[in-house]
Amino acid sequence: MRVLVSGGAGYIGSHTVLALVAAGHDVIVVDDFSNSKPSVQGRLEALAGRAIPFHGFDLTDADKTERLFAHERIDAVIHFAGFKAVGESVTKPLEYYRNNLDSTFALAASMAKYGVTKLVFSSSATVYGEKAPVPYREDYEHLSSSSPYGQTKVMIERVLSDIAQISEGWKVALLRYFNPVGAHPSGDIGEDPQGIPNNLMPFIAQVAVGRRERLTVFGDDYPTADGTAERDYLHVTDLAAGHVAALEHLDDMVEPARAFNLGTGTGTSVLELLKAFERAVGRELPYEIGPRRAGDLPAFWADPTRANTELGWHATKTIDDMCADTWRWQSRNPEGFPGS
Ligand code: UFG
Repeated sequence: MRVLVSGGAGYIGSHTVLALVAAGHDVIVVDDFSNSKPSVQGRLEALAGRAIPFHGFDLTDADKTERLFAHERIDAVIHFAGFKAVGESVTKPLEYYRNNLDSTFALAASMAKYGVTKLVFSSSATVYGEKAPVPYREDYEHLSSSSPYGQTKVMIERVLSDIAQISEGWKVALLRYFNPVGAHPSGDIGEDPQGIPNNLMPFIAQVAVGRRERLTVFGDDYPTADGTAERDYLHVTDLAAGHVAALEHLDDMVEPARAFNLGTGTGTSVLELLKAFERAVGRELPYEIGPRRAGDLPAFWADPTRANTELGWHATKTIDDMCADTWRWQSRNPEGFPGS
């Protein structure tokens, strides 16, 4: 297939581009580089061993989006592009709703106009909200999210499901990611957050490489084994493989729009992840215990049965693999990708 990857210069998008090429698909990337660097393209082309066309524009520009569809043959779309910082979304709700929804509207309208009916959407476990029983299952009905960011995922899932219900031939896979971490085993691409990392793994990696003084563990009084919060971390290359599996399964889906959890099914605590990272680096890392972060849940992980059975997809990498690969990327690229 010839696959348009929106947000293909980003962390998960870039790893998925490589997985698509390895599986024999052609890829076109659209990315406005608002949260990624253009130097990703060269790294991807070196790893893929071939040219990968990049289009540098913002999908909320509906005219440009439509022109892309008018000029390129596109068989399917994987839609990653979007703002994704939970905390920032609370302070900039309008920007988040506008960007994430308008880009999806422009994309879906162009797909409809040019007869593209296959779509894989980048959703999140955040859609399960605060009350869903753990482990999370896709048939939970009361989707909601406490942040505007998360609410854009709930809304977009609904928009795409409604379109798929009434549009001949449309197939949409809604992939609910748990906590993606790790990097390509080459160490040439990985997560490169701008500014102070919001997420745990890139923060630990920056402590290890000397860019941050110490990790602050957000709370050690949760009702978990060691008191720190538990999440379902999965390796980004497993996650990328999940996108290829979903794309190739679209024609066989039992409903026009279907959600799939992509996670390992196991929880790991903040301190367990820190200890695993220390094993990868070979030394202890400084940390302190701080207060809980507003909005954080104590513990959640996936029930990945649906993705296992219907997509034939399983997470394969261990927590130690995730830390070793993150460390290879971070130690070889202490400042992330080159360029401003
Ligand atoms: N944490 C720390 N210190 C830090 C950063 C994080 O202790 O410096 C803790 C958090 O409190 C949490 C755990 O590490 O308990 C994981 O935090 P992340 O920010 O890495 O991940 P979250 O589970 O909070 O967020 C992820 C995704 C979001 C998504 C959310 C809910 O990054 O996109 O899951 O599904 F919305």
